[in-house]
Amino acid sequence: MYYPDELVEEVRLKNDIIDVISGYVRLQKKGSSHFGLCPFHNEKSPSFSVSGGKQMYYCFGCGAGGNVFTFVMEYENYTFPEAIKMLADRAKVDLPEIEYSEEVKKKESKRNKLLEVNKEAAKYFYYQLRSQRGNLGYRYLAERQLTDETMKKFGLGFASVSSGDLVQYLRSKGYADGLIQEAGLASFDEKYGLHDKFWNRVMFPIQDINHRVVGFGGRVMGDAKPKYLNSPETMIFDKSRNLYGLNFARTSRQNNVILCEGYMDVIAMHQAGFTQAVASLGTAFTAGQANLLRRYTQEVFLAYDGDAAGTGAALRAISILKEVELSGKVINLEPYKDPDDFIKNLGTDAFTERMEEAENSFFFELRIMEKDYNLKDPESKTKFHREIARKLCGFREEVERENYIEAVADKYGIGFDNLRKLVVAYAAQTGLVSPVVRPKSGIAEKKNTPEENIKKAQRLLITWITEEPKVFPQIIKYITPQDFTEELYQKVADKLFEEMKEGKLNPAYIVSMFTDEEDQREVASLFNTKLEELETKQEREKALHDILYTVKKNSYEYYSARLGADVNSLSQVIAGKKALEELNKTHISLD
Ligand code: CTP
Ligand code: MN
Repeated sequence: MYYPDELVEEVRLKNDIIDVISGYVRLQKKGSSHFGLCPFHNEKSPSFSVSGGKQMYYCFGCGAGGNVFTFVMEYENYTFPEAIKMLADRAKVDLPEIEYSEEVKKKESKRNKLLEVNKEAAKYFYYQLRSQRGNLGYRYLAERQLTDETMKKFGLGFASVSSGDLVQYLRSKGYADGLIQEAGLASFDEKYGLHDKFWNRVMFPIQDINHRVVGFGGRVMGDAKPKYLNSPETMIFDKSRNLYGLNFARTSRQNNVILCEGYMDVIAMHQAGFTQAVASLGTAFTAGQANLLRRYTQEVFLAYDGDAAGTGAALRAISILKEVELSGKVINLEPYKDPDDFIKNLGTDAFTERMEEAENSFFFELRIMEKDYNLKDPESKTKFHREIARKLCGFREEVERENYIEAVADKYGIGFDNLRKLVVAYAAQTGLVSPVVRPKSGIAEKKNTPEENIKKAQRLLITWITEEPKVFPQIIKYITPQDFTEELYQKVADKLFEEMKEGKLNPAYIVSMFTDEEDQREVASLFNTKLEELETKQEREKALHDILYTVKKNSYEYYSARLGADVNSLSQVIAGKKALEELNKTHISLD
């Protein structure tokens, strides 16, 4: 932590969350909360709620949530120190200067220098493109149907034919040779000395999400090779954690992202109005990039080239997306090569149509796989079906797997039961998933798993306490923080119970205790689980009773299973048994 807790708390208390968020989102009071359109996803009816009492916000649509710090961090894309600085300024609280270590200071100063020299280079290229010498580049881009406005938006530039220009310019601005080289803008050899890396190319500055230039891609204007040259990775340029176009896409307020292969694709897409398009940076799509995307969207449309290389890359991207639980869909661009080509020929509406028709990524994978088999030959066909069954085992969740089995059986004209048997056999054989009992209807209902129900009960209980603190004395008769068997929930319950016992209730403070953004989001969801609207007191009493029972029973089972391994389990088990017996004969009263 950078600042003492008390100071962080002071800044938070002096920035009322309703005031702050009202500066960004139009809020309307409804009951004890304020509601508005969520700034973190695209929606037509308000599911974004802000509670003055809890000093927290939560979106029931996309799950974004937190306290005033989290909001500013998410909205402005600030780090915590940046957010606290802004809010301290707003509330006129003085923050002490932070003492950094020598090492941190040096690193910070190097980063700043690299950013500076990249910015200077971008300015230089930008200026060149618009000068006499850059005419060739300008004509090339104009011929590719980019408007002036687009060239400006993406800061496109030109590196001229003579390969000493940039170095000379940067030297004249006072930048040291070492730095220019470290930034990847020039290389050194015995014969030529320090010389520009990029020459006779149109230049695409690569920006981070805060619009800072961190590197470049440069394209030849004809068919020479290599077609693109890219800056090397540096202290400020991590190719696996950045995406071209994300600086614009992240505020595009669309509920999807379009993942393309190339810089030109992204630019053409943005020009056509698809401002949610991004591309990886001359390298394959990585897990780091998938994680980055997950912050902004749940659905990714792949717009990769239709050739063999593009298809292979799409298949790899799909499996990476799946790892982080993002759902992927594949856009068919035929008969065109890439999104840029497609848009130029068929335009925006046609592309929107293709998005609507985009193929579920699993079916895409099967369709590609199918090409390796001869379905007229029974042996090959059987192999194909086995391969399908093997892939279906990849769905860990029973409901999802059943639904896919059904859909695949339907699509490929395989008997449902036969395919299902194959999957079960495969699963048992490889231990991937345990064989499941076939539901009678043949179609599994969408039902929560027991684990989800238990987690939900734990969340409901935490929300109930914060919404209706007067039930707390009833609850602590039966429940302790240890009963929250999810690690994160337990940490929250620990703090919450401690505060409640002192007669305090401060959920927004509890959010601040967590530094990780994902944790903060999840903690916020704990305080904002939707309680069913129950009419009568009896119904509410019954509901609370059920929740207490579920949480306690799970805890009893959880600790029973650990009796051998953990000495603390015994007391939990004894107390659990007693509480369950008691709950069985007690009626919870909400008077
Ligand atoms: N790429 C690269 N080096 C190359 C070729 C390609 O770094 N020699 C990267 C670039 O990031 C490029 C992406 O791979 O944007 C996709 O390549 P490609 O489809 O060939 O290029 P496009 O972006 O479609 O460019 P253009 O339309 O100008 O040919
Ligand atoms: Mn292209």
